[in-house]
Amino acid sequence: MESPEKVVAVIMVGGPTKGTRFRPLSFNTPKPLFPLAGQPMVHHPMSACKRIPNLAQIYLIGFHEEREFALYVSSISNELKLPVRYLKEDKPHGSAGGLYYFRDIIMEDNPSHIFLLNCDVCCSFPLPAMLEAHKRYGGMGTMLVIKVSAESACQFGELVADQATNELLHYTEKPETFVSDLINCGVYVFTPEIFTVIESVTFNREDRANLRRVSSFEALQSATRALPTDFVRLDQDILSPLAGKKKLYTYQTLDFWEQIKTPGMSLKCSGLYLAQFRFTSPHLLASGDGKKNATIVGDVYIHPSAKVHPTAKIGPNVSVSANVRLGAGSRLINCIILDDVEIKENAVVINSIVGWKSLVGKWSRAQADGNYNAKLGITILGEAVTVEDEVVVTNSIVLPNKTLNVSVQDEIIL
Ligand code: GDD
Repeated sequence: MESPEKVVAVIMVGGPTKGTRFRPLSFNTPKPLFPLAGQPMVHHPMSACKRIPNLAQIYLIGFHEEREFALYVSSISNELKLPVRYLKEDKPHGSAGGLYYFRDIIMEDNPSHIFLLNCDVCCSFPLPAMLEAHKRYGGMGTMLVIKVSAESACQFGELVADQATNELLHYTEKPETFVSDLINCGVYVFTPEIFTVIESVTFNREDRANLRRVSSFEALQSATRALPTDFVRLDQDILSPLAGKKKLYTYQTLDFWEQIKTPGMSLKCSGLYLAQFRFTSPHLLASGDGKKNATIVGDVYIHPSAKVHPTAKIGPNVSVSANVRLGAGSRLINCIILDDVEIKENAVVINSIVGWKSLVGKWSRAQADGNYNAKLGITILGEAVTVEDEVVVTNSIVLPNKTLNVSVQDEIIL
């Protein structure tokens, strides 16, 4: 009997220069490892990959230091019972260039299909259904797409697809004028032909670079003149030119989808993943009625090592990490509490992220109005911040190692 065709998955995790909008939280941990619903951001696409039939390997490609990922990669590999490898680029090669850079390793298992996923998107990752659709379409690649509001579409790749065949007809990356409310979700499946296509972009660039040496006029005209030949962007360099050539197809999700570029969006996505746990991992959701355990409202994750007073009231959308201590009468709503935090008696945390080893004193509050898209729409306490007793922090970002002994509002505390 012939062995089944193998599939591999690649998750693009970027690097330190890419996480700047995620500060101050990216000071401590690379953005892909920031916990959403108690699990590192990249854990969610990875556990979705586990559902792909005949998956042989998962690769994470990035330019973060290898040691930052080593521990996580070995633990997730054990948990998923799948080989997982972190592949470090020596420099950023772009979303397609990074894939191409490691083509020999990715093709070691001789896969028939390669999934490519951005790590900073939050969705239900309908990967097996996408693969089925991709095989039916018979093209080189299929991308996950979704309808969003016309106002927000310009933050993403906008596209037009054939309503009957789902072929990608037109693609523009973050256009200045509105093209379509159908956008690219950053989740793709390709046949290995993708490598030939990326290679041709590289070769064309080399040719143009040679030409430029003789024509300085062309150099002034070229929008891509500053790009090194091995830097290839999947969207501008591959998707746009291949649209309408019967190579690329779309698969539309009607489920949830968000992009995670800011701490505010990470709080929103933590809630979306917690809600999804009801169907995928109900054992990860806390329960309690205020008798022996704390009162739990809605979807809540509590790490087993956290010490929670039975009179605390927690939820909805709360994620409590390792070694956290929650005092008597504390109240937590819509927040992420990171490792080793202490929330003292009767303190309140609403619409906030509380950084590693921080302390929120008795009767104090960390709170915000909860506008995920506004700069100060959630309150963020960086690592090792102390909010003294009876101090109120509202709509503010506090950088690491600060002590607050007076209340603040709408401020960035440097
Ligand atoms: N390894 C590696 N190397 N990863 C990279 C590199 C690189 O040089 N450049 C970007 N990435 C990773 C990022 O970490 C992210 O996971 C993904 O590739 C895409 O990042 P960007 O290229 O910065 O694009 P974007 O996030 O602004 O937009 C893309 O994704 C949207 C969906 O979230 C585009 O494809 C949009 O069209 C799309 O709507």
